[in-house]
Amino acid sequence: MFNKKMVTDFDVRDKKVLVRVDFNVPIQDGKVGDDTRIQAALPTIKYLLEHEAAVILCSHLGRPKGEYAEEFSLKPVAEYLGTLLDAKVIFAEDCIGEKAELAVEALQTGEVLVLENTRFHAGEKKNDPGMAKQLASLADLYVNDAFGSAHRAHASTAGVAEHLPAAAGFLLEKEIKYLGNTIAEPERPFVAILGGAKVSDKIGVIENLLEKADSILIGGGMANTFFKAQGFDMADSLVEDDVLDIAKELLEKASGKLVLPVDVVIADAFDANAVEKVMDVGDVPAGWRILDIGPRTVAAFAEIINQAGTVVWNGPMGVFEFTKFAKGTFEIAKAVAESDAIGIVGGGDSASAIKKSGLEDKITHISTGGGASLEMLEGKVLPGLAALDDK
Ligand code: 3PG
Repeated sequence: MFNKKMVTDFDVRDKKVLVRVDFNVPIQDGKVGDDTRIQAALPTIKYLLEHEAAVILCSHLGRPKGEYAEEFSLKPVAEYLGTLLDAKVIFAEDCIGEKAELAVEALQTGEVLVLENTRFHAGEKKNDPGMAKQLASLADLYVNDAFGSAHRAHASTAGVAEHLPAAAGFLLEKEIKYLGNTIAEPERPFVAILGGAKVSDKIGVIENLLEKADSILIGGGMANTFFKAQGFDMADSLVEDDVLDIAKELLEKASGKLVLPVDVVIADAFDANAVEKVMDVGDVPAGWRILDIGPRTVAAFAEIINQAGTVVWNGPMGVFEFTKFAKGTFEIAKAVAESDAIGIVGGGDSASAIKKSGLEDKITHISTGGGASLEMLEGKVLPGLAALDDK
């Protein structure tokens, strides 16, 4: 349950507020690509500006190796943010040390300062207490709104909260409410849809959801491992042989809750232009591989989704990067959007499938977190949330 202090619980007027956002966004040719995460952080930033705070934003971008690398600079993000806000946006070339301190000193109420990538310091990922203290020294209050990074125990997501009053922002609150509270007390039937290539990535999620969901619909490459565990020959399909025993155990434990595809789309090559065929689940012919769920499966899954009270979806149903094998994923996106259920979509591929199909507005909540949303579905406590002050 969400029981953390909120940004609204503090008097922020004339205060310097350090906000950890997740501005880990794609940069193409020196410009912001997908701005979803930046847009999602705006309510907290705007609230602070409207309440006369001076806003200091920090984030990581990409996976630099603890030192400066231009391709991972947050400068383009700061420039882009300036176009979205009716406020002065300043950029500091470091997130701690003299450059950051001077910029913070000069920062006025109603202005926004974007600090350079926290991962340009090795101390960030090590949750170095020295770095956490230096970050904290810049501000009077810390707000975490970086849901996408809340599963990381880093200096800017966790350590810093030990040295300042620490509250949640609106995005973090919203994500935790949907991916935590709604799933803990779902409207029933509660249907989970899990896809993606690997079972091994989702064992914890399946185990946790088996206790909570009424059905778990399985698609994507991970279904192949379950099929092989049931004794089918998967030919050239992607299969994780090292987790076959776990897949068997999960099927036994699920006692019917795990719903596998009844038909599949197979291809004669792993290629966008491969020859495709729909077949019932059974032995895949030699030289072929499963790349999508079939139309009968789409119809069966859609019927279950249509009757659900709550739906949570994480992971594509096939190789949706190839148009020929994207149908299953897009049809499931449509089914989730058309259902009257509370629809929650985990970040990453399923979120981009929803966006590509233009159905975003029909989904109750699309998460901005990939790894973080998976850890929530596993029932794990996120360090970035745990570090904040309790209500
Ligand atoms: C993400 O994109 O999932 C988050 O920003 C976390 O990034 P990381 O996996 O590099 O920690």
